[in-house]
Amino acid sequence: MAASRLVVLVSGSGTNLQALLDAIDAHPGGAEGFGAEVVAVGADRADIAGLERAEKAGIPTFVCPVKQYGSREEWDAALTAATDAHAPDLVVSAGFMKIVGKAFIDRFGGRFVNTHPALLPSFPGAHGVRDALAYGAKVTGCTVHFVDSGVDTGPVIAQGVVEIRDEDDEAALHERIKEVERALLVDVVGRLARHGYRIEGRKVTIQ
Ligand code: GAR
Repeated sequence: MAASRLVVLVSGSGTNLQALLDAIDAHPGGAEGFGAEVVAVGADRADIAGLERAEKAGIPTFVCPVKQYGSREEWDAALTAATDAHAPDLVVSAGFMKIVGKAFIDRFGGRFVNTHPALLPSFPGAHGVRDALAYGAKVTGCTVHFVDSGVDTGPVIAQGVVEIRDEDDEAALHERIKEVERALLVDVVGRLARHGYRIEGRKVTIQ
């Protein structure tokens, strides 16, 4: 079976993207064996390490900064078209820090995966790590989920747990979460692509 086509969206350092690229590279069966290949990387800003990683790997990139468009709807339509141009089977938001709009969800709903640095439904939003620390939670982690029209509200695919230590600050905790998160994202994307999946209400089953 041909490898699933992935478009990965990033806004920052892109270590989750790199983990996917490395796992595909390291697989004895290559992209076909892994089940997926990254066909393009999109971002909402230029000059970020995530885009450099893609360029280094020879993967096409596109950039859609919100400020370049007259309205959020126009931005959403442009992001949808730029992503669609690469005919993805799955779209992966790997540290993409923008909330997409209706056009994007209408086009890619049910095949748009996000990774979030907290155990949803706790601590959604842009500061999942900081919010868990501030709350005084003793465990947190990461959640890989399908994106719906809410903020971090879509059906959960998999979660990983990380203990919060007394001495943790946001950076130290986020780094330990990201170690778990990268492995989880690679595992989930590979299994979704190789086995297929069903979404029934809130329940996701990988077949
Ligand atoms: C990841 O921890 C991801 O969960 C988080 O940004 C980081 C990106 O790291 N995303 C969010 O907080 C989205 N709300 P990376 O750029 O090194 O892959």
